Amino acid sequence: MATNPSNKEKLVREKLFSAPPKTKPDFWKEALAFGVKKVRSNITAFRKKYPAPASVKNVYPLIGNTEWTTSFWPGMLWLSWEGTGDDLFRKTAEKYIADFRARLDKRIAVETHDLGFLYTLACVAPWRLTGNTAARAAALKAADLLMIRFYEKAGIIQAWGDLNDPEQQGRIIIDCAMNLPLLYWASEETGNPYYREAAERHIAAANRYLIRQNWSTYHTFFFDIKTGKPLKGTTAQGYSDDSCWSRGQAWGIYGNALSYRYTRDPSLLENAKGLARYFLNHLPEDLVAYWDLVFVKGKEERDSSAAAIAARGLLELSAALPLADPERRLFENAALHITASLAKSYTTSSVHRSTGILLHGVYSKPGNNGVDECTTWGDYFYMEALVSIVRGWRPYW
Ligand code: GLY
Repeated sequence: MATNPSNKEKLVREKLFSAPPKTKPDFWKEALAFGVKKVRSNITAFRKKYPAPASVKNVYPLIGNTEWTTSFWPGMLWLSWEGTGDDLFRKTAEKYIADFRARLDKRIAVETHDLGFLYTLACVAPWRLTGNTAARAAALKAADLLMIRFYEKAGIIQAWGDLNDPEQQGRIIIDCAMNLPLLYWASEETGNPYYREAAERHIAAANRYLIRQNWSTYHTFFFDIKTGKPLKGTTAQGYSDDSCWSRGQAWGIYGNALSYRYTRDPSLLENAKGLARYFLNHLPEDLVAYWDLVFVKGKEERDSSAAAIAARGLLELSAALPLADPERRLFENAALHITASLAKSYTTSSVHRSTGILLHGVYSKPGNNGVDECTTWGDYFYMEALVSIVRGWRPYW
């Protein structure tokens, strides 16, 4: 449970969010069709490779299967298949499954909690959608590798790096909420509660220590792995240790709503709501967040990927709320307003030769990496939101 459940901030844009945005007929279908068109042309552009995490001048360099982000590409292919039924997307996505299996077998860049992002989209998705048993086996193997990062005493999953790296030891990050569905899924598939119990302990610790009294969040938090003692909150990609990194807040909204999907623990919905209100109350006029929520106007860069993740997270949250909950409609409409703003003003539709879908994302401003560029996860979550809006969608998570 978060630190201050009684702190219920009012939504400052309650009036705006009391109705969906006014859009032309076919607005959403056309927005999705643009994304699908881009995915189709990227099949040729990317060949058998993967887009780098962020673009350079709005074009993705191509890489091998070595980053935490490579599964967003097969993820977009699966979404495009669901959105169109065109088998080209399915056949292309299926070709990547063997490569994800090889990455595990050869232990290529697997010292990360992002095994959840990677194997949910590249392997759980095809298992859920087509019953692909090789994909299921790879995803279960990835869940086993992820469990090696769980510290029993502290009840947390270490985010980054080798477990013996003193700089990373005992560090959690808010993004990890999106890696937990792989563990819940593994318990459902195997009947072994061991994965689910670790996920439940991790989300409880993350919510207790990453969420502040006012529902803003730390990006990262350190624990003493020997005693389990909580140490301190810091940032890695945010403006400062005590600011609120926009994408982290968005991961928290969506991640809590997804953990609720598996656990039905009502405290997770309360957390998602508190995080959502804070996010929505710190947006600029056009509802696309700056890269850190400390900024609400001025020249700093936006992070369109935070907007896309939050929008899809708000859809997941609102669908989980009881019909009688007045925030159900408000959060759903907020998601539609944010996604409409992205569709109207943030796509690459008028940018010559871009291989991205959403402009104006930020990978890491402090690291000066992928600043004001397309991001593979921004494109992916924007597509998720659009598929959900146009036809309804059962998460791969
Ligand atoms: N999960 C890493 C990031 O959001 O940059």
